Amino acid sequence: MSVLQVPVALSALLEDPQVTDVLVNGPDAVWVDGAGGMRRLALHLGDAAAVRALAQRLAAQAGRRLDDASPMVDAHLPGGIRMHAVVPPVAPGGPLISFRVFRREGMTLADLEAGGTVDSWGAQLLAGLVAARVNFVVSGATGAGKTTLLSALISLVGHDQRLVIIEEAQEIIASHPHCVRLEARGANAEGRGLVTLTDLVRESLRMRPDRIVLGECRGPEVREVLTALNTGHEGSAATIHANSCEDVPARLAALGSLAGLDQRTVAVQAAAALGAVVHLGRGPDGIRRVQAIAALQLAGSELSAVPAWSLGPGGAGPGPGWAALAQRLDRC
Ligand SMILES: Nc1ncnc2c1ncn2[C@@H]1O[C@H](COP(=O)(O)OP(=O)(O)O)[C@@H](O)[C@H]1O
Ligand SMILES: [Mg+2]
Repeated sequence: MSVLQVPVALSALLEDPQVTDVLVNGPDAVWVDGAGGMRRLALHLGDAAAVRALAQRLAAQAGRRLDDASPMVDAHLPGGIRMHAVVPPVAPGGPLISFRVFRREGMTLADLEAGGTVDSWGAQLLAGLVAARVNFVVSGATGAGKTTLLSALISLVGHDQRLVIIEEAQEIIASHPHCVRLEARGANAEGRGLVTLTDLVRESLRMRPDRIVLGECRGPEVREVLTALNTGHEGSAATIHANSCEDVPARLAALGSLAGLDQRTVAVQAAAALGAVVHLGRGPDGIRRVQAIAALQLAGSELSAVPAWSLGPGGAGPGPGWAALAQRLDRC
């Protein structure tokens, strides 16, 4: 057992800097995700009762419970590890544990370039977006590397500017001397004390931010974010879940509807507020890459993300949105 109270083989995996996720589907079905993509390991954790006991021990270590009455838990463990566990009857096949490892050290834009996430032209373009104080969203599927790229980019912000980082759980690693953090929290057992991302975006406006950074825009806070970005705070950024950059307008519309905004209002506000969408995807080789940097354009009430730079089979090249993005960059 290690400090984390996990079997030694598991602790070695969780400490491996290449590993991003460890997924325990059963005592003999442990999968690991890392630099080379997802693979199954020949690791044996005993029986289902041992997996359940492991999940319960870790939940208890984080001050949480996991039992028949509360069969799911999402807990932050020491060492920047997040554990999700679910036990029967909700997981009918037996206890399931998902570990996500957050790197203790952030990655710089140069690290990402060296690892093949972006080529040097793309990296220059991204640094240019930050320097020109273009508001942007980083889009992609879960695990595409959105938070990591956002962290690298906000670390490029000039030290004369103040960043307010708003998150549901601390995931962004910013290397910047003047950033402050706000973290949302759930209601307690009596239903009190809820602090939402929407509340925090509103609060942040009173904290003299130069730039607001929202870890993930995933709900009705999109309304406050778009309002904030349309009233100053240039150079703000967020991540958003979308399977392609072309899907970002529809995702924004869906989030806006949660806040009672109609599609047209979201389209008009987003076109004015957001200068760029940076989309990340993961190739069959397991490497996370910036696939497109797009400009948001409004035609009538239709919002679309038009690639200004995109990755094709032969490498990166400019796209039809180039002129619009270049115009934003020139404004600095
Ligand atoms: N460009 C990258 N190269 C290598 N590993 C990465 C890269 N981006 C992210 N990772 C790793 O992948 C995992 C998921 O990254 P994260 O940024 O949290 O994704 P997302 O925010 O899209 O869900 C993390 O463990 C992170 O360290
Ligand atoms: Mg993320």
